[in-house]
Amino acid sequence: MRARITPKRTFLGRRSFIKKAISAGLLCGSPLVLAETLSDSIACKKLLLDPISSTQKKFVTSYNNYYEFSTNKKMVRHIAKEFDYSDWTLNIGGLVENPITLNLKQIMALPTCERVYRLRCIEGWSAVIPWQGIELQRILEFVKPLSNAKFVKFESVFDPKQMPGQRTSNFSWPYVEGITLDEAMHPLTILATGMYSESLPVQNGAPIRLVVPWKYGYKSIKAIQQLTLVEEQPQGSWQQAVPSEYGFYGNVNPNVPHPRWSQRRELPLGENKKVRTKLLNGYARQLERLYSPDIIDTLF
Ligand code: MTE
Repeated sequence: MRARITPKRTFLGRRSFIKKAISAGLLCGSPLVLAETLSDSIACKKLLLDPISSTQKKFVTSYNNYYEFSTNKKMVRHIAKEFDYSDWTLNIGGLVENPITLNLKQIMALPTCERVYRLRCIEGWSAVIPWQGIELQRILEFVKPLSNAKFVKFESVFDPKQMPGQRTSNFSWPYVEGITLDEAMHPLTILATGMYSESLPVQNGAPIRLVVPWKYGYKSIKAIQQLTLVEEQPQGSWQQAVPSEYGFYGNVNPNVPHPRWSQRRELPLGENKKVRTKLLNGYARQLERLYSPDIIDTLF
């Protein structure tokens, strides 16, 4: 019987061939090169984050905002159960030197590290989630944004056959979000492919979602299929649907009330007592260089 395992010398030979091809400028923009480049680098920097304990997984996976499936948070996981994403592609393009398309296998092969982050929903509930993901910065460095790229626009999957919410007119589907290129390059910003050391559950955004921990949860778009580097500020789905209540930045700020409620406190999932909401969700120290100190207090 023939051995299925690639002999080590063949594997090493292939790696050294790929490396030579990369340094010769061949294979530019291929998923193979991305995987090779990323596997040689660290997936995430070491950040000095406050030690925080995670919310129990059962709460995080059973109370979800995911309008493509349902506006009923407790129903999302039931309706999403059969969602098939086996033929997924993630495309990264627009104003970049090396556009790239990854299939599911290549997405799942991205090197990841763990980041335990607070998530604060604009509605007033919160959670602490251990994500497995990769810094978006790593991927952007690979695709090389052009000098006129100023923002990253994200689009979720559009699949009304599998997503009943997309057969309604809640939004102009697909769900869209955007952040500045500087925010996208910040080491706190990750693309998550897992949580609680398992693949992402569908209800939390499988197979890949954005996590920007200092912004209200609506910015952390789920089930991403398209990233486009653009020059003009993109409009997010919520901003487009209710511009008086949702801004482009969506930075967590207890000092700026929502037009219909205070943002001073939040209810952690699984608990029955509200706690104080932190400026920039507790990440102000890490963001000092992103937003100048004088404007931090006025950001929305
Ligand atoms: N992404 C998509 N595609 N569709 C959505 O409805 N809801 C957002 C965000 N990402 C949403 C989305 C909102 S409002 C929040 S608060 C978070 O997902 C909730 O993430 P969670 O369900 O994993 O806690």
